[in-house]
Amino acid sequence: MAILASSLLFSFVLSSGALARPSSTFPTRAVTNASLSDVSTAFSRAGIVPGVIPVFQPTGLLDVQFESIKVTPGMNLTVKQVSTEPKFGLQVSDTTTASNAQFVIALVDPDAPTPQNRTFAQVRHLLGGGYHWDASTGALTNTTAALSDFLPPGPPPGSDPHRYLVLAYVQSEGFSSKAPSLVNASTPITGFNISTLSEALGLGAPFAGTFFLTGPEADNSANASAGPNPSSTPQGSGAVSVHAPLAVTAMLASVLAISCLA
Ligand SMILES: *[C@@H]1O[C@H](CO)[C@@H](O)[C@H](O)[C@H]1NC(C)=O
Ligand SMILES: *[C@@H]1O[C@H](CO)[C@@H](O)[C@H](O)[C@H]1NC(C)=O
Ligand SMILES: *[C@@H]1O[C@H](CO)[C@@H](O)[C@H](O)[C@H]1NC(C)=O
Ligand SMILES: *[C@@H]1O[C@H](CO)[C@@H](O)[C@H](O)[C@H]1NC(C)=O
Ligand SMILES: *[C@@H]1O[C@H](CO)[C@@H](O)[C@H](O)[C@H]1NC(C)=O
Ligand SMILES: *[C@@H]1O[C@H](CO)[C@@H](O)[C@H](O)[C@H]1NC(C)=O
Ligand SMILES: *[C@@H]1O[C@H](CO)[C@@H](O)[C@H](O)[C@H]1NC(C)=O
Repeated sequence: MAILASSLLFSFVLSSGALARPSSTFPTRAVTNASLSDVSTAFSRAGIVPGVIPVFQPTGLLDVQFESIKVTPGMNLTVKQVSTEPKFGLQVSDTTTASNAQFVIALVDPDAPTPQNRTFAQVRHLLGGGYHWDASTGALTNTTAALSDFLPPGPPPGSDPHRYLVLAYVQSEGFSSKAPSLVNASTPITGFNISTLSEALGLGAPFAGTFFLTGPEADNSANASAGPNPSSTPQGSGAVSVHAPLAVTAMLASVLAISCLA
């Protein structure tokens, strides 16, 4: 009896150990020179280097996952697919250093309001520090409040797809005390410059990153079943008002206005 009980306990421990190691959460690409160079090549091809950041020599692979969609560099995603905050993960060779570090993640749009007219760029879609890496799952999870909470991509009707960059930095000493004086709730999300900020905070160059492309919802709005308000959507021609119920509050209206720029 005692033997049976302990062997049951043993198999329970084994199986819960297996469950506690959800390596399936993120793709387990090996960090090789080839996989790193694939990412930097994609950044160069998309003109992100040197157009948005001067150099990018990644030493880690950043995983970004929207619901069930794992972003590969340069992937095309719809507004709907990127409407909720993604989860982040990281693959690195130097697991000891990564386990003891904190990280900063930024999501920016350099193509607002359009790739041809970058008057509002960069638009800050997410900025936060205090990300910790879990070596067993590969997940990057934040422990502190965002400097900028996630703002879903919403490029304006008629725009070509925007590039959305997700960049990871090793958090510098003094970041948490200094950053809120540079970026906080009253800092406009437009006219942002991630390079200037990383210089000011001593973050150096991003060590990992990825990007995706998202075009305006108008591209999908003819598809009534995919629209947020299908009954009042006449072929997506109503621009901002398509998304806004009649009794929309002033605050919601301004959020919608912003999200329709970037
Ligand atoms: C990978 O790249 C680094 C730096 O460029 C180099 O030192 C190293 O030898 C390369 N490793 C392999 C396996 O090619
Ligand atoms: C993304 O869409 C563009 C057209 O807008 C196309 O040229 C490109 O090949 C697509 N990229 C991928 C990775 O499918
Ligand atoms: C660029 O976009 C802004 C904002 O929509 C607009 O005011 C400006 O006229 C545009 N500039 C050009 C050259 O189209
Ligand atoms: C991180 O998590 C907290 C909740 O613990 C949340 O309030 C915060 O805004 C999150 N986001 C970022 C990007 O830091
Ligand atoms: C918030 O950020 C702005 C810069 O956008 C800065 O001028 C201001 O001092 C910051 N506020 C606080 C309380 O640090
Ligand atoms: C951001 O700042 C860097 C210098 O820190 C500058 O070279 C670059 O042109 C700026 N980018 C934008 C979009 O203003
Ligand atoms: C329309 O939306 C449905 C449900 O979201 C989707 O399965 C279908 O592929 C969409 N069709 C087009 C043309 O986008």
